Amino acid sequence: MSLTLGIIKPDAVQSGKAGSILSHLEASGFTVKALKMTVMNTVQAGAFYAVHKERPFFDSLVSFMTSGAVIPMVLEDDDAVAKLRAVIGATDPAEAGDGTVRKLFAESKERNAIHASDSDENAASEISFFFCDHERLGI
Ligand code: CMP
Repeated sequence: MSLTLGIIKPDAVQSGKAGSILSHLEASGFTVKALKMTVMNTVQAGAFYAVHKERPFFDSLVSFMTSGAVIPMVLEDDDAVAKLRAVIGATDPAEAGDGTVRKLFAESKERNAIHASDSDENAASEISFFFCDHERLGI
């Protein structure tokens, strides 16, 4: 078993799709090990997406990710990082496979409903970004 981080993004929270997305993830076999609702500020969102700092969409991405509540969650399954990325589908919902979270629930390439860690190393750092020591005691 391994862990990954997912974030239900502001577009999905605002449009009332968070519960459906969570159900979809559980039905796909993930166990939710930790979960919270929070609002990121500009510094936090900029730090979280620092790898994209030079990309033309960076400012818009930070603005979007701070526009409302997000739901970060720690998910457990066999090969959790690769499995979650398969379950959520391509970044652009227009290119995401049928039945994937982004095909079902995302609006656009930016407003794409959910984030997922892209490696075990990044999963560990992203989990620590959102969940402090005592919130990770049960993991
Ligand atoms: P995520 O998986 O959270 O990782 C980086 C995010 O940047 C991505 O989902 C999208 O929300 C956003 N993103 C990636 N590429 C683009 C793009 N070409 N235009 C706008 N937003 C993008």
